[in-house]
Amino acid sequence: MKSTFASLAIAAALSASVSGFALAQDSVEVLHWWTSGGEAAAVGVLKDDLQKQGVGWQDMPVAGGGGEAANTALKARVTSGNPPTAAQLLGMAVNEWSEEGLLGDLTSVADQEGWGTVVPDAIKNFAVHDGKWQAVPVNIHRPNWLWINAKVFKDNGLEPPKTWDEFNAVADKLKEKGIVPLAHGGQPWQDTTVFDDVVLGIGGPEFYKKAILELDDAALKSDTMVKVFDQMRKIRGYVDPNFSGRDWNLATAMVLKGEAAMQLMGDWAKGEIVKANLTPGVDILCVTAPGTEGSFLFNTDFFAMFPVGDSKLAAQHKLAASVMSPSFQEAFNLVKGSIPARTDVSGDKFDACAKKSMGDLKSAVSSGTLLGSLAHGHAEPAGIQRAMFDVVTQHFNSDMSSKDAAAALVTAINAAR
Ligand code: BGC
Repeated sequence: MKSTFASLAIAAALSASVSGFALAQDSVEVLHWWTSGGEAAAVGVLKDDLQKQGVGWQDMPVAGGGGEAANTALKARVTSGNPPTAAQLLGMAVNEWSEEGLLGDLTSVADQEGWGTVVPDAIKNFAVHDGKWQAVPVNIHRPNWLWINAKVFKDNGLEPPKTWDEFNAVADKLKEKGIVPLAHGGQPWQDTTVFDDVVLGIGGPEFYKKAILELDDAALKSDTMVKVFDQMRKIRGYVDPNFSGRDWNLATAMVLKGEAAMQLMGDWAKGEIVKANLTPGVDILCVTAPGTEGSFLFNTDFFAMFPVGDSKLAAQHKLAASVMSPSFQEAFNLVKGSIPARTDVSGDKFDACAKKSMGDLKSAVSSGTLLGSLAHGHAEPAGIQRAMFDVVTQHFNSDMSSKDAAAALVTAINAAR
Protein backbone atom coordinates (compact mmCIF):
# COMPACT_ATOMS: atom_id res chain seq x y z
CA MET A 1 0.00 0.00 0.00
CA LYS A 2 2.71 2.36 1.12
CA SER A 3 4.66 1.71 -2.04
CA THR A 4 1.56 2.42 -4.21
CA PHE A 5 1.18 5.82 -2.55
CA ALA A 6 4.84 6.45 -3.03
CA SER A 7 4.70 5.61 -6.72
CA LEU A 8 1.56 7.72 -7.16
CA ALA A 9 3.31 10.62 -5.52
CA ILE A 10 6.30 10.15 -7.81
CA ALA A 11 4.03 9.91 -10.85
CA ALA A 12 2.16 13.05 -9.80
CA ALA A 13 5.39 14.90 -9.26
CA LEU A 14 6.66 13.70 -12.61
CA SER A 15 3.53 14.69 -14.48
CA ALA A 16 3.53 18.09 -12.76
CA SER A 17 7.08 18.67 -13.84
CA VAL A 18 6.32 17.39 -17.36
CA SER A 19 3.32 19.71 -17.72
CA GLY A 20 5.37 22.49 -16.13
CA PHE A 21 7.98 21.81 -18.78
CA ALA A 22 5.37 21.83 -21.54
CA LEU A 23 3.97 25.11 -20.22
CA ALA A 24 7.38 26.72 -20.07
CA GLN A 25 8.24 25.42 -23.51
CA ASP A 26 5.03 26.57 -25.14
CA SER A 27 4.43 29.99 -23.71
CA VAL A 28 6.11 33.36 -23.65
CA GLU A 29 5.97 35.97 -20.94
CA VAL A 30 6.13 39.47 -22.33
CA LEU A 31 6.56 42.66 -20.33
CA HIS A 32 5.15 45.78 -22.00
CA TRP A 33 3.38 49.08 -21.35
CA TRP A 34 0.63 48.78 -23.94
CA THR A 35 -2.43 49.36 -21.80
CA SER A 36 -4.54 52.01 -23.59
CA GLY A 37 -7.47 50.87 -25.75
CA GLY A 38 -5.56 51.03 -29.05
CA GLU A 39 -2.40 49.55 -27.54
CA ALA A 40 -4.24 46.65 -25.92
CA ALA A 41 -5.92 45.90 -29.26
CA ALA A 42 -2.46 45.70 -30.85
CA VAL A 43 -1.26 43.30 -28.12
CA GLY A 44 -4.32 41.18 -28.97
CA VAL A 45 -3.05 40.82 -32.56
CA LEU A 46 0.24 39.41 -31.29
CA LYS A 47 -1.39 37.13 -28.74
CA ASP A 48 -3.74 35.67 -31.40
CA ASP A 49 -0.89 35.22 -33.84
CA LEU A 50 1.10 33.21 -31.31
CA GLN A 51 -1.90 31.22 -30.15
CA LYS A 52 -2.40 30.00 -33.73
CA GLN A 53 1.09 28.55 -33.52
CA GLY A 54 0.43 26.85 -30.19
CA VAL A 55 2.41 29.39 -28.17
CA GLY A 56 0.68 30.68 -25.05
CA TRP A 57 0.84 34.29 -23.86
CA GLN A 58 1.61 35.30 -20.30
CA ASP A 59 0.85 38.99 -20.14
CA MET A 60 2.92 41.34 -18.00
CA PRO A 61 1.53 44.82 -18.64
CA VAL A 62 2.95 47.74 -16.64
CA ALA A 63 0.89 50.88 -17.29
CA GLY A 64 2.61 54.20 -17.99
CA GLY A 65 3.11 55.86 -21.39
CA GLY A 66 6.70 56.13 -22.53
CA GLY A 67 7.59 53.03 -20.49
CA GLU A 68 9.33 54.38 -17.39
CA ALA A 69 7.36 52.20 -14.94
CA ALA A 70 7.81 49.18 -17.23
CA ASN A 71 11.58 49.66 -17.18
CA THR A 72 11.60 49.78 -13.38
CA ALA A 73 9.56 46.57 -13.23
CA LEU A 74 11.90 44.93 -15.71
CA LYS A 75 14.96 45.84 -13.63
CA ALA A 76 13.37 44.19 -10.59
CA ARG A 77 12.65 41.00 -12.56
CA VAL A 78 16.13 40.75 -14.04
CA THR A 79 17.82 41.57 -10.74
CA SER A 80 15.94 38.76 -9.04
CA GLY A 81 17.25 36.35 -11.69
CA ASN A 82 13.85 35.79 -13.29
CA PRO A 83 13.68 37.74 -16.56
CA PRO A 84 10.59 37.56 -18.79
CA THR A 85 10.93 35.90 -22.21
CA ALA A 86 10.87 39.31 -23.85
CA ALA A 87 10.37 42.94 -22.88
CA GLN A 88 9.25 45.98 -24.82
CA LEU A 89 12.16 48.41 -24.92
CA LEU A 90 12.98 51.60 -26.79
CA GLY A 91 16.27 51.78 -28.73
CA MET A 92 18.61 53.36 -26.17
CA ALA A 93 17.33 50.95 -23.52
CA VAL A 94 18.17 47.99 -25.79
CA ASN A 95 21.70 49.40 -26.02
CA GLU A 96 21.97 49.74 -22.25
CA TRP A 97 20.73 46.18 -21.51
CA SER A 98 23.04 44.85 -24.18
CA GLU A 99 26.05 46.70 -22.76
CA GLU A 100 25.32 45.07 -19.39
CA GLY A 101 25.60 41.70 -21.16
CA LEU A 102 22.05 40.77 -20.15
CA LEU A 103 20.40 40.07 -23.51
CA GLY A 104 20.09 36.79 -25.41
CA ASP A 105 21.10 36.01 -28.98
CA LEU A 106 18.69 35.63 -31.89
CA THR A 107 21.24 35.51 -34.68
CA SER A 108 20.39 31.96 -35.76
CA VAL A 109 16.73 32.99 -36.28
CA ALA A 110 17.75 36.23 -37.97
CA ASP A 111 19.94 34.39 -40.47
CA GLN A 112 17.29 31.81 -41.20
CA GLU A 113 14.60 34.46 -41.72
CA GLY A 114 16.79 36.96 -43.59
CA TRP A 115 16.12 40.00 -41.36
CA GLY A 116 19.44 41.61 -42.25
CA THR A 117 18.31 42.95 -45.61
CA VAL A 118 14.82 44.19 -44.75
CA VAL A 119 15.30 46.30 -41.61
CA PRO A 120 16.51 49.90 -42.12
CA ASP A 121 20.02 50.55 -40.75
CA ALA A 122 18.87 53.22 -38.26
CA ILE A 123 16.79 50.53 -36.57
CA LYS A 124 19.15 47.63 -37.03
CA ASN A 125 21.80 49.61 -35.15
CA PHE A 126 19.73 49.30 -31.97
CA ALA A 127 18.85 45.61 -32.48
CA VAL A 128 22.26 44.22 -33.41
CA HIS A 129 25.24 44.40 -31.05
CA ASP A 130 28.67 42.96 -31.81
CA GLY A 131 27.11 41.23 -34.80
CA LYS A 132 24.40 39.56 -32.68
CA TRP A 133 20.64 40.19 -33.05
CA GLN A 134 19.39 40.76 -29.51
CA ALA A 135 16.02 42.41 -30.10
CA VAL A 136 13.33 42.49 -32.78
CA PRO A 137 11.74 45.74 -34.00
CA VAL A 138 7.95 45.67 -33.93
CA ASN A 139 7.25 48.98 -35.65
CA ILE A 140 8.36 52.47 -36.56
CA HIS A 141 6.51 55.22 -34.71
CA ARG A 142 6.67 58.89 -35.62
CA PRO A 143 6.36 61.28 -32.69
CA ASN A 144 6.27 64.53 -34.74
CA TRP A 145 2.57 64.57 -35.60
CA LEU A 146 -0.12 67.14 -34.89
CA TRP A 147 -3.60 65.57 -34.63
CA ILE A 148 -6.51 67.85 -35.45
CA ASN A 149 -10.25 67.47 -34.96
CA ALA A 150 -11.41 68.20 -38.54
CA LYS A 151 -14.91 69.35 -37.52
CA VAL A 152 -13.65 71.82 -34.93
CA PHE A 153 -11.28 73.33 -37.49
CA LYS A 154 -13.95 73.42 -40.22
CA ASP A 155 -16.60 74.96 -37.98
CA ASN A 156 -14.17 77.69 -37.02
CA GLY A 157 -12.77 78.30 -40.52
CA LEU A 158 -9.23 77.24 -39.56
CA GLU A 159 -6.45 75.70 -41.64
CA PRO A 160 -3.87 73.24 -40.23
CA PRO A 161 -0.84 75.26 -39.08
CA LYS A 162 2.46 74.67 -40.87
CA THR A 163 4.71 76.80 -38.67
CA TRP A 164 4.79 77.64 -34.97
CA ASP A 165 3.61 81.20 -35.76
CA GLU A 166 0.61 79.77 -37.59
CA PHE A 167 0.03 77.38 -34.70
CA ASN A 168 -0.04 80.29 -32.25
CA ALA A 169 -2.45 82.26 -34.46
CA VAL A 170 -4.83 79.27 -34.74
CA ALA A 171 -4.57 78.54 -31.01
CA ASP A 172 -5.30 82.18 -30.11
CA LYS A 173 -8.45 82.10 -32.27
CA LEU A 174 -9.63 78.84 -30.65
CA LYS A 175 -8.96 80.22 -27.19
CA GLU A 176 -10.97 83.38 -27.96
CA LYS A 177 -13.90 81.14 -28.84
CA GLY A 178 -13.60 79.21 -25.58
CA ILE A 179 -12.23 76.03 -27.22
CA VAL A 180 -9.23 74.29 -25.64
CA PRO A 181 -6.57 74.58 -28.37
CA LEU A 182 -4.27 71.76 -27.25
CA ALA A 183 -5.04 68.52 -25.43
CA HIS A 184 -2.03 67.71 -23.28
CA GLY A 185 -1.08 65.50 -20.38
CA GLY A 186 1.43 67.05 -17.99
CA GLN A 187 3.88 64.18 -17.60
CA PRO A 188 7.61 64.59 -18.26
CA TRP A 189 7.64 62.32 -21.33
CA GLN A 190 4.63 64.11 -22.82
CA ASP A 191 6.12 67.56 -22.13
CA THR A 192 9.29 66.39 -23.89
CA THR A 193 7.33 64.95 -26.84
CA VAL A 194 6.14 68.53 -27.40
CA PHE A 195 9.63 69.94 -26.73
CA ASP A 196 11.17 67.64 -29.39
CA ASP A 197 8.66 69.01 -31.93
CA VAL A 198 9.45 72.60 -30.99
CA VAL A 199 13.24 72.09 -31.12
CA LEU A 200 12.93 70.50 -34.56
CA GLY A 201 10.28 72.93 -35.81
CA ILE A 202 12.05 76.12 -34.73
CA GLY A 203 15.68 75.03 -35.09
CA GLY A 204 15.44 72.63 -38.05
CA PRO A 205 17.11 69.21 -38.39
CA GLU A 206 20.72 70.43 -38.12
CA PHE A 207 19.93 72.24 -34.87
CA TYR A 208 18.12 69.14 -33.52
CA LYS A 209 21.20 67.07 -34.32
CA LYS A 210 23.57 69.52 -32.61
CA ALA A 211 21.46 70.20 -29.52
CA ILE A 212 19.70 66.91 -28.87
CA LEU A 213 21.84 64.22 -30.47
CA GLU A 214 25.29 65.76 -29.98
CA LEU A 215 24.47 67.78 -26.82
CA ASP A 216 26.54 70.65 -28.14
CA ASP A 217 26.85 73.29 -25.38
CA ALA A 218 26.70 76.24 -27.77
CA ALA A 219 23.50 74.94 -29.40
CA LEU A 220 21.91 74.11 -26.04
CA LYS A 221 22.30 77.65 -24.73
CA SER A 222 21.87 79.43 -28.08
CA ASP A 223 19.25 82.08 -28.92
CA THR A 224 17.46 79.36 -30.88
CA MET A 225 17.05 77.29 -27.70
CA VAL A 226 15.77 80.42 -25.91
CA LYS A 227 13.16 80.77 -28.69
CA VAL A 228 12.26 77.10 -28.21
CA PHE A 229 11.49 77.72 -24.54
CA ASP A 230 9.55 80.90 -25.47
CA GLN A 231 7.34 78.70 -27.66
CA MET A 232 6.99 76.13 -24.85
CA ARG A 233 5.75 78.97 -22.61
CA LYS A 234 3.17 79.93 -25.27
CA ILE A 235 2.03 76.30 -25.49
CA ARG A 236 1.56 76.27 -21.70
CA GLY A 237 -1.08 78.95 -22.27
CA TYR A 238 -2.99 76.75 -24.77
CA VAL A 239 -3.66 73.73 -22.54
CA ASP A 240 -6.67 73.35 -20.23
CA PRO A 241 -6.35 73.83 -16.44
CA ASN A 242 -6.61 70.06 -15.74
CA PHE A 243 -3.66 68.99 -17.88
CA SER A 244 -1.40 68.01 -15.01
CA GLY A 245 -0.72 64.24 -14.80
CA ARG A 246 -3.29 63.38 -17.50
CA ASP A 247 -2.55 60.18 -19.44
CA TRP A 248 -1.83 60.67 -23.13
CA ASN A 249 -4.79 58.59 -24.31
CA LEU A 250 -7.19 60.72 -22.27
CA ALA A 251 -5.75 63.76 -24.02
CA THR A 252 -6.30 62.00 -27.36
CA ALA A 253 -9.89 61.28 -26.32
CA MET A 254 -10.44 65.04 -25.81
CA VAL A 255 -9.56 65.62 -29.48
CA LEU A 256 -11.71 62.69 -30.64
CA LYS A 257 -14.70 64.10 -28.74
CA GLY A 258 -14.09 67.67 -29.88
CA GLU A 259 -13.34 68.83 -26.33
CA ALA A 260 -9.98 70.08 -27.59
CA ALA A 261 -8.88 70.95 -31.12
CA MET A 262 -5.37 69.46 -31.39
CA GLN A 263 -2.79 67.17 -29.81
CA LEU A 264 0.97 66.93 -30.41
CA MET A 265 1.61 63.20 -30.05
CA GLY A 266 3.18 60.20 -31.73
CA ASP A 267 1.11 58.02 -34.00
CA TRP A 268 0.15 55.62 -31.20
CA ALA A 269 -2.64 58.26 -30.96
CA LYS A 270 -3.82 56.84 -34.28
CA GLY A 271 -4.40 53.52 -32.52
CA GLU A 272 -7.00 55.33 -30.38
CA ILE A 273 -8.59 56.93 -33.47
CA VAL A 274 -8.94 53.54 -35.16
CA LYS A 275 -10.25 51.94 -31.97
CA ALA A 276 -12.93 54.67 -31.79
CA ASN A 277 -13.98 53.81 -35.37
CA LEU A 278 -12.97 57.22 -36.67
CA THR A 279 -11.01 57.67 -39.88
CA PRO A 280 -7.48 59.04 -39.56
CA GLY A 281 -6.90 61.74 -42.15
CA VAL A 282 -10.66 62.43 -42.42
CA ASP A 283 -12.27 62.81 -38.97
CA ILE A 284 -8.97 63.43 -37.27
CA LEU A 285 -6.37 65.05 -39.50
CA CYS A 286 -2.69 64.17 -39.27
CA VAL A 287 -0.19 66.85 -40.20
CA THR A 288 3.50 66.97 -39.37
CA ALA A 289 4.16 69.02 -36.23
CA PRO A 290 4.64 72.71 -37.13
CA GLY A 291 7.90 73.42 -38.94
CA THR A 292 8.95 69.75 -39.07
CA GLU A 293 7.88 68.78 -42.61
CA GLY A 294 10.84 67.06 -44.29
CA SER A 295 12.13 65.56 -41.04
CA PHE A 296 11.11 62.30 -39.43
CA LEU A 297 11.50 61.86 -35.69
CA PHE A 298 11.35 58.16 -34.94
CA ASN A 299 11.07 55.64 -32.20
CA THR A 300 10.77 51.89 -32.47
CA ASP A 301 9.37 49.41 -30.00
CA PHE A 302 11.69 46.44 -29.74
CA PHE A 303 11.11 43.14 -28.04
CA ALA A 304 14.43 42.53 -26.38
CA MET A 305 15.07 38.86 -25.68
CA PHE A 306 16.52 37.66 -22.40
CA PRO A 307 18.47 34.42 -21.89
CA VAL A 308 15.68 32.06 -20.84
CA GLY A 309 17.25 28.62 -20.75
CA ASP A 310 16.77 25.73 -23.15
CA SER A 311 13.21 24.84 -22.17
CA LYS A 312 11.86 28.21 -23.27
CA LEU A 313 14.12 28.88 -26.21
CA ALA A 314 11.87 27.40 -28.90
CA ALA A 315 8.91 29.57 -27.83
CA GLN A 316 11.15 32.63 -27.66
CA HIS A 317 12.39 31.99 -31.19
CA LYS A 318 8.82 31.55 -32.41
CA LEU A 319 7.90 34.88 -30.85
CA ALA A 320 10.83 36.58 -32.57
CA ALA A 321 10.12 35.00 -35.96
CA SER A 322 6.41 35.85 -35.72
CA VAL A 323 7.03 39.47 -34.82
CA MET A 324 9.33 39.84 -37.80
CA SER A 325 7.05 38.17 -40.33
CA PRO A 326 5.64 40.53 -43.00
CA SER A 327 2.06 39.43 -42.30
CA PHE A 328 2.37 40.19 -38.59
CA GLN A 329 4.10 43.51 -39.21
CA GLU A 330 1.17 44.51 -41.41
CA ALA A 331 -1.60 43.27 -39.09
CA PHE A 332 -0.05 44.69 -35.92
CA ASN A 333 0.84 48.10 -37.28
CA LEU A 334 -2.60 48.60 -38.85
CA VAL A 335 -3.94 48.54 -35.29
CA LYS A 336 -1.02 50.15 -33.42
CA GLY A 337 -0.86 53.34 -35.53
CA SER A 338 2.78 52.86 -36.49
CA ILE A 339 4.29 51.56 -39.74
CA PRO A 340 6.16 48.26 -40.29
CA ALA A 341 9.82 48.03 -39.34
CA ARG A 342 10.46 46.06 -42.55
CA THR A 343 10.89 47.87 -45.83
CA ASP A 344 9.22 45.09 -47.87
CA VAL A 345 5.68 45.34 -46.45
CA SER A 346 3.21 46.96 -48.83
CA GLY A 347 1.35 50.07 -47.68
CA ASP A 348 -1.83 49.15 -49.58
CA LYS A 349 -3.95 48.38 -46.56
CA PHE A 350 -2.78 51.38 -44.54
CA ASP A 351 -4.60 54.71 -44.07
CA ALA A 352 -3.54 58.08 -45.47
CA CYS A 353 -1.53 59.03 -42.36
CA ALA A 354 0.49 55.79 -42.39
CA LYS A 355 1.06 56.15 -46.15
CA LYS A 356 2.43 59.66 -45.57
CA SER A 357 4.62 58.27 -42.80
CA MET A 358 6.01 55.58 -45.13
CA GLY A 359 6.78 58.10 -47.87
CA ASP A 360 8.27 60.62 -45.44
CA LEU A 361 10.46 57.92 -43.88
CA LYS A 362 11.98 57.10 -47.27
CA SER A 363 12.75 60.73 -48.05
CA ALA A 364 14.13 61.34 -44.55
CA VAL A 365 16.50 58.38 -44.93
CA SER A 366 17.84 59.80 -48.19
CA SER A 367 18.07 63.40 -46.98
CA GLY A 368 19.65 62.53 -43.62
CA THR A 369 16.70 63.88 -41.62
CA LEU A 370 15.64 60.67 -39.87
CA LEU A 371 16.23 61.63 -36.25
CA GLY A 372 15.92 59.66 -33.02
CA SER A 373 13.33 61.00 -30.57
CA LEU A 374 14.58 62.25 -27.20
CA ALA A 375 11.23 61.77 -25.48
CA HIS A 376 10.98 58.23 -26.80
CA GLY A 377 14.37 56.80 -26.02
CA HIS A 378 16.22 57.08 -29.32
CA ALA A 379 18.50 60.03 -28.69
CA GLU A 380 20.21 59.83 -25.29
CA PRO A 381 20.84 57.22 -22.59
CA ALA A 382 18.33 57.18 -19.72
CA GLY A 383 20.38 59.31 -17.28
CA ILE A 384 20.75 62.23 -19.67
CA GLN A 385 17.22 61.83 -21.02
CA ARG A 386 15.83 62.04 -17.48
CA ALA A 387 17.92 65.15 -16.71
CA MET A 388 16.51 66.84 -19.84
CA PHE A 389 12.94 65.74 -18.98
CA ASP A 390 13.32 67.41 -15.57
CA VAL A 391 14.31 70.79 -17.03
CA VAL A 392 11.60 70.75 -19.70
CA THR A 393 8.91 69.86 -17.14
CA GLN A 394 10.19 72.29 -14.54
CA HIS A 395 10.11 75.12 -17.07
CA PHE A 396 6.64 74.14 -18.29
CA ASN A 397 5.23 74.20 -14.76
CA SER A 398 6.86 77.35 -13.41
CA ASP A 399 7.64 80.89 -14.47
CA MET A 400 11.29 80.05 -15.18
CA SER A 401 12.64 82.31 -17.96
CA SER A 402 13.62 80.83 -21.31
CA LYS A 403 17.24 81.92 -20.80
CA ASP A 404 17.38 80.23 -17.39
CA ALA A 405 15.82 77.07 -18.85
CA ALA A 406 18.46 76.87 -21.60
CA ALA A 407 21.21 77.35 -19.01
CA ALA A 408 19.60 74.75 -16.73
CA LEU A 409 19.60 72.28 -19.61
CA VAL A 410 23.38 72.59 -19.99
CA THR A 411 23.95 72.24 -16.24
CA ALA A 412 21.64 69.22 -15.91
CA ILE A 413 23.20 67.44 -18.89
CA ASN A 414 26.74 68.03 -17.64
CA ALA A 415 25.81 66.72 -14.21
CA ALA A 416 24.29 63.58 -15.75
CA ARG A 417 27.19 62.79 -18.10
C1 BGC B 1 5.92 53.67 -27.39
C2 BGC B 1 4.57 53.37 -27.96
C3 BGC B 1 3.51 53.63 -26.92
C4 BGC B 1 3.66 55.04 -26.36
C5 BGC B 1 2.64 55.43 -25.32
C6 BGC B 1 5.95 55.06 -26.79
O1 BGC B 1 7.19 55.32 -26.18
O2 BGC B 1 6.90 53.58 -28.38
O3 BGC B 1 4.47 52.04 -28.40
O4 BGC B 1 2.24 53.43 -27.49
O5 BGC B 1 4.94 55.20 -25.79
O6 BGC B 1 2.53 54.47 -24.33
